[in-house]
Amino acid sequence: MGKKITSKVAWVGKTDWELKTFHGHELSTLRGSSYNSYLIRDKKTVLVDTVWQPYDKEFISRLKEETDLNKIDFIIINHSEIDHSGALPELLREIPGTPVYCTAKGEAIMRGHYHEDWNFVNVKTGDTLPIGDSTLTFIEAPMLHWPDTMFTYMSGENILFSNDGFGQHFATESLFNDLSDPAEIFYEAEKYYTNILNPFSPMVSRKLKEILSLGLQIDMIAPSHGVIWKENPGQIIEKYAEWCEAYKENRITIVYDSMWNSTRLMAEALADGIYSADKDVKVKIMHAALEDKNDILTEIFRSKAVLLGSPTVNNGYTYALGGLLEMIRGLKFKNKKAAAFGSFGWSGEGASLISDSLAASGFEIVSGPLKAKWVPDAAAIDECRAYGAAFAEAVK
Ligand code: FEO
Repeated sequence: MGKKITSKVAWVGKTDWELKTFHGHELSTLRGSSYNSYLIRDKKTVLVDTVWQPYDKEFISRLKEETDLNKIDFIIINHSEIDHSGALPELLREIPGTPVYCTAKGEAIMRGHYHEDWNFVNVKTGDTLPIGDSTLTFIEAPMLHWPDTMFTYMSGENILFSNDGFGQHFATESLFNDLSDPAEIFYEAEKYYTNILNPFSPMVSRKLKEILSLGLQIDMIAPSHGVIWKENPGQIIEKYAEWCEAYKENRITIVYDSMWNSTRLMAEALADGIYSADKDVKVKIMHAALEDKNDILTEIFRSKAVLLGSPTVNNGYTYALGGLLEMIRGLKFKNKKAAAFGSFGWSGEGASLISDSLAASGFEIVSGPLKAKWVPDAAAIDECRAYGAAFAEAVK
């Protein structure tokens, strides 16, 4: 059965407790997720978004418990990615011809996905759809995070259906933010922002300003994943306003990979040195291959500076560093300082190549790569401590 949100709006989505990776395996979803779909019953009946395709039949059978499908006047697809449009083929087999409201780009993408000639109605920012006491207003939000994305605002109930924006991969039975652990949902919201929205931060910044300038009364933000922001929805807007402006905290994150512990010993000595020079900075060491990659990226997002290390292997760095550096490149972090380190036996290019990669990804390199030959001895450990202390001073 659906779940009541207001007297006119019900949640009819799917909670996916077992989802542990998303976008193939690009993004870990360790707390599961949900595909939020909303049924609005005013004088007209409107479905906002659907669910991921594997759950299409389950979704439709539960939707039938909520309403006669033939009563659905309009379908709104805020974003055509398959986790939100995936049940459309099955649904439109049942109610063919039902208008599908979306942006022009949304239509193009859905035609590309499904190869169906559905009854698309294209909308732009400011277009409205009266549905009785309430009116729906569409707000395009391109590149948050696909070109087609839009938000839909419902007057009267004052709900912003924001699709992926303000979402979190977080499975919950209780739907609303005030009924969930705030530390968990804010962590998942930040992880979501880091791994999906950060490359588009300039667009997020512009969109937030535009939405605030509209002066909409927003009583609830209902995203397409995770909890609905019912208690003080402004708090997640404030977080986004911070996150989209080259966000950083007083943190340094050390990420390393190691084959025979030499680079690990360097990482620990670097942390020691940082602490000796700055007792206020939060320092965290993470193993590139053993920790979750998206948690590492979230930690980098929060940090003012990072130290990345790998032993030299086959004239380069390890597989884990390679994957991480590629993701760092794509996420377009801003306003961060960095340096590289690593052990080596003979050729020793690993740390230099990490440094080059970080520089190419826009990090400010504060010092040349730190290298240690074979297993670091006491003098090499002292050198790592001194390097860490100098790094901490340089990024203060
Ligand atoms: Fe949740 Fe971009 O799809």
